Amino acid sequence: MATCVATPNIAFVKYWGKRDERLHLPVAGSVSMTLDETLASRTTVDFGGFPEDSFVLDGRKGEFPDVIGEIRERAGIARLKARIVSRNNFPPAAGLASSASGFAALVVAATDAAGLRLSGRDLSVLARKGSGSACRSVVGGFAEWRAGKRRDGSDSYAEQIAPARHWRGLVDLAIVLDGARKKMPSRAGMRQTVATSDLYGARVAGMAAKISECRRAIIERDAPALFALVMRESNNMHAVMLDTWPPISYMNDESRKAVCVIHELVNNGREPVCGYTFDAGPNPHIITTRRRTGGIIKALKEGGVKVRRALVCGAGDGPRIVRG
Ligand code: DP6
Repeated sequence: MATCVATPNIAFVKYWGKRDERLHLPVAGSVSMTLDETLASRTTVDFGGFPEDSFVLDGRKGEFPDVIGEIRERAGIARLKARIVSRNNFPPAAGLASSASGFAALVVAATDAAGLRLSGRDLSVLARKGSGSACRSVVGGFAEWRAGKRRDGSDSYAEQIAPARHWRGLVDLAIVLDGARKKMPSRAGMRQTVATSDLYGARVAGMAAKISECRRAIIERDAPALFALVMRESNNMHAVMLDTWPPISYMNDESRKAVCVIHELVNNGREPVCGYTFDAGPNPHIITTRRRTGGIIKALKEGGVKVRRALVCGAGDGPRIVRG
C-alpha cells in the first residue's frame, strides 16, 4: 500500500492534438510549471488481498483506471486486486482540471505499492497513458514534454527544465470565474481540431520555436518575455479551437473581459507585469510574480470581472509519497 500527493501543472506552451489517441501521443511538445500543493490530489493504492478492484474518487465510485493493469503486469502481481481511494482538495465545481494531478498521484502511488522502482521517465510515460498532461505533473518545477517520434510512445515523456526553487517568485494566479462545467471534454475537442482546423498546421509549424523561446525565458527568468509568450500561445490555441468545425469555444464573455483588463494593465508591453493563459475552460490563469497578485486581483475586480475565487499557486516539487 502507498499514498502519494501530486499537483496539477499549468502549461505555458500547450498540448492540443494527438498523433495517437490510445497512447495519448501528442502532435507537438509542450512546456509547463508543476504547481505547489495549493491544489492537490491525494491517492492511496492498496494491493492487499481484495476480492475485486475498486476506485473511489472524492467519495464516489469511479471507473477503474486501465493503467493499473500495466503496473500489475510489470510488477508480476497481475492477479492481485487493488483498492484505490483518491481525493482532490480542489474547490468543488471550480472548473480547475484535476486529471493531471490525479493520474500523477495514481501512478506514483501504484508503482510504489507494487514494489516497482521506476525512473522518472518511466513514471512520466505511465502517467501519460492516463491523461496526456499528467506526464508533466510527475516532474517537479518546470517541465518539457517531448512529443517523441516512436509509435509505442517510449520517447514521449516529460523532463525537468529547472527545479521549482529556480524561480520561487513566479506564480499562477488562478481566477475562478464561474462554476459551470466545461461544455466539451478536451479529449473530444482536440480530436475535432486535428480533424477539421485549417489553422492547425500553422500552429504546429510554430511550436518548436515557441518551445525553445519558452525554455530560454524560464532558464534566464525573463519574466517580460514569458508573460508575452504565454498570452500569444494561449490565444493561438484558442484560435485553432474557434477554427475547428463545428467551432469550440471554452472562453466566455467574462474570460474576454479579463483579457481586456490584463491588456490594459500591461499597457502594450510597456508594463510587463503578468500574462494570461486559458486551458479548456473559462478560468484565467494569470502568470505573474507573487508580489503583484494583490494589484492584479484588484484591477480585475475594478474592471468588472466577477472573481469568485483567486488562488495563488507557486511552483511545486512534484509528487511525494506520504508515509504512515
Ligand atoms: C488545454 O491532458 O486533459 O489543458 O490527454 O486527452 O487526457 P488527455 O487531455 P488533457 O489535455 C490538456 C489540454 C490543455 C493544455 C495543456 O495542459 O497542455
